[in-house]
Amino acid sequence: MTKILSTLTLNTGQLMPVVGLGTYKSSSGEVGEAVKHAIQAGYRHIDCAWIYDNEAEIGNALKEILEEGSVKREELFIVTKLWNNFHSRGSVVKKLKESLEALCLTYVDLYLIHWPIGFKEEADPLPNDPSAYSDVDYVETWKGMEECVDEGLAKSIGLSNFNEEQITRVLENCRIRPTVNQIEVNPNLNQKDLIQFCRERDIVVTGYCPLGRAAQSQVTPGYPISTLLDPKVIEMGKKYGKTPAQVVLRYLISLDISVIPKSVNKNRIQENFEIFDFDLDAEDISYLDSRNTGQRIATLVAYKDHKYYPFR
Ligand SMILES: NC(=O)c1ccc[n+]([C@@H]2O[C@H](COP(=O)([O-])OP(=O)(O)OC[C@H]3O[C@@H](n4cnc5c(N)ncnc54)[C@H](OP(=O)(O)O)[C@@H]3O)[C@@H](O)[C@H]2O)c1
Repeated sequence: MTKILSTLTLNTGQLMPVVGLGTYKSSSGEVGEAVKHAIQAGYRHIDCAWIYDNEAEIGNALKEILEEGSVKREELFIVTKLWNNFHSRGSVVKKLKESLEALCLTYVDLYLIHWPIGFKEEADPLPNDPSAYSDVDYVETWKGMEECVDEGLAKSIGLSNFNEEQITRVLENCRIRPTVNQIEVNPNLNQKDLIQFCRERDIVVTGYCPLGRAAQSQVTPGYPISTLLDPKVIEMGKKYGKTPAQVVLRYLISLDISVIPKSVNKNRIQENFEIFDFDLDAEDISYLDSRNTGQRIATLVAYKDHKYYPFR
């Protein structure tokens, strides 16, 4: 069996667990329990963001878990992200402190710039009008991110949804290197080129939407159909005694990335973690490789005219 490590080493020496829990759209009243189930199931990596509007409930759950003592803070890998309205250098540390207070933590393991595009601070977080765009350069934002490390508020800093050119600009202008680029990765969009580009620069990729938002993909106009629903992948699952989600997650971690499937369901949280005890054969890997149509779920196409829109 091809051995896949359960952690990836970042350029800071930190170990990032390969499977993390996603929390986007994990609603209030559910997300705290989801975090507790995940940690009980063995997860140590939790992916959060200011924009998900659920950091406080996650924080209460983390506080309870840490006080109860079964897991120590240093065993956890907690990630959160800076939203687009706060790209001015002077806002970054302030926003991380707000997230830390909500999360009941004194530091995060990784702080990410959520998107390269900025909005004016006073604008709606998801504005409808280009007059809300700010042209703060993400290289400026990065200087604020570096201050988060200087102040001991983030063990490492990284990017999310940055393209090759944008990563290169950050690398050419940074004092502290990004450790991670968090991007959409699933069989419909396997991102092998960008993963390789990042690897050559000692940046680890975390794949979001790894399950292709399976149920939503059937009913949301514009979403590519999730590979979890592909009859061939369902058959593969039967062959290995695994679910389609486990087949897909196993395929993704073989790309040397971490994955952050979201679930608020105890059984599915457990299921998404049980992916280290089987291997896919070459024919199945090649079939999953062939599903790479390049279609995205998270296009953020409403902002395609923004100066720093990453997916041109
Ligand atoms: N950086 C970024 O811009 C960005 C963008 C998008 C997402 N993210 C992060 O990535 C995480 C994952 O992405 P996502 O939440 O968009 O999509 P996803 O993880 O691909 O899919 C989540 C959906 O799949 C369902 N699900 C979970 N486990 C399943 C299983 N074993 N079988 C079938 N269905 C299952 C979940 O429902 P239940 O909850 O009912 O199980 C939920 O509806 C997010 O939560 C967020 O933390 C980051």
